[in-house]
Amino acid sequence: MTLNKHHCCSTFIFLLLTLLSQFYSVESELQLNYYAESCPNAEETIKQQVIKLYNKHGNTAVSWVRNLFHDCMVKSCDASLLLRRVKGMESEQESDRSFGMRNFKYINTIKEAVEKECPMTVSCADIVALSARDGILMLGGPRIEMRSGRKDSKQSYLTEVQNAIPNHNDTIDLVLARFQSIGIDTPGAVALLGAHSVGRVHCVNLVHRLYPTVDPTLDPEHAEYLKRRCPTPDPDPKAVLYSRNDLETPMILDNMFYKNLLKHKGLLMVDQQLTSHPLTSPLVEKMAADNGYFLDQFARAVLLLSENNPLNEDQGEIRKDCRYVNLV
Ligand code: HEM
Ligand SMILES: *[C@@H]1O[C@H](CO)[C@@H](O)[C@H](O)[C@H]1NC(C)=O
Repeated sequence: MTLNKHHCCSTFIFLLLTLLSQFYSVESELQLNYYAESCPNAEETIKQQVIKLYNKHGNTAVSWVRNLFHDCMVKSCDASLLLRRVKGMESEQESDRSFGMRNFKYINTIKEAVEKECPMTVSCADIVALSARDGILMLGGPRIEMRSGRKDSKQSYLTEVQNAIPNHNDTIDLVLARFQSIGIDTPGAVALLGAHSVGRVHCVNLVHRLYPTVDPTLDPEHAEYLKRRCPTPDPDPKAVLYSRNDLETPMILDNMFYKNLLKHKGLLMVDQQLTSHPLTSPLVEKMAADNGYFLDQFARAVLLLSENNPLNEDQGEIRKDCRYVNLV
């Protein structure tokens, strides 16, 4: 075989370009301790704030976990969730799917502490991601090595929320498809729903399983308990009527969620249906039996979720105030 001169050069140029593109990548590059040079104390400051807030209001840690899902699932981990309504732009927080979300004001507390350390350096998207990581630890969950370097969106995507975040009564097939679309497999999806091992569900999301007749997939005794928590079929959505997800370890991210599902004590339809779908029921059994397996899968899936479609340099910005896009 004779080496064609032209072929040789084009191969060389191709290799050179490939190499160069590693350095001048248009794709955003998340990396461990991204702020090591620009703000060495950033991650520690976030962690200290998460701990301080947890000690004041334990449920802040629960909120940081839900924020990660609601932010990252909608287009990207870009803090679009945190934007408030302004003239000409509605907020994702106003979606039905965001019902019950709380503690947004304490994100500002974290951001202010970080701004004091290094102004205009650390993104709100990284605060969403890293506060979830640290919140998970406060809730007894796994230690997760998370990369940073996310950028903040310049818009909010209210109408996308319905497409990205499933409803409380959607089918498991739909839920699995949603997670699949961002690269999370079935064990990952089942583990992520284990986040419902902490926190609460408001009566508006429960009463359809209690009235007029009790859902046969719900344990009758647990139904009686839930009826005491939610005494009427049409609760005032503004009333703070709710039940905790897990009565035994309500503030611990553990496999009690799956044990409860096996006892027919899942609160949301999607949660309970995990036990009856052929793809997910073996995983519920496995996670119920093995907390270590659950925590490993949970950590793996949280990482995938937290790295969904990060914005690159020119798509995003570092917001000064997490609630508003920067003024230009
Ligand atoms: C198919 C997926 C999911 C659906 C349909 C869903 C739906 C819901 C609903 C309806 C609530 C109760 C809201 C209320 O009444 O106050 C809730 C709470 C919660 N969800 Fe999900 N969720 C899903 C997945 C996830 C994932 C993947 C995570 C995190 C990894 C998560 C974290 C939470 C947390 C922590 C709460 C408790 C919030 C609090 O107590 O403030 N959820 N979810
Ligand atoms: C699911 O719940 C919503 C209310 O949250 C209701 O409007 C809708 O009809 C329910 N869908 C199904 C399939 O039951």
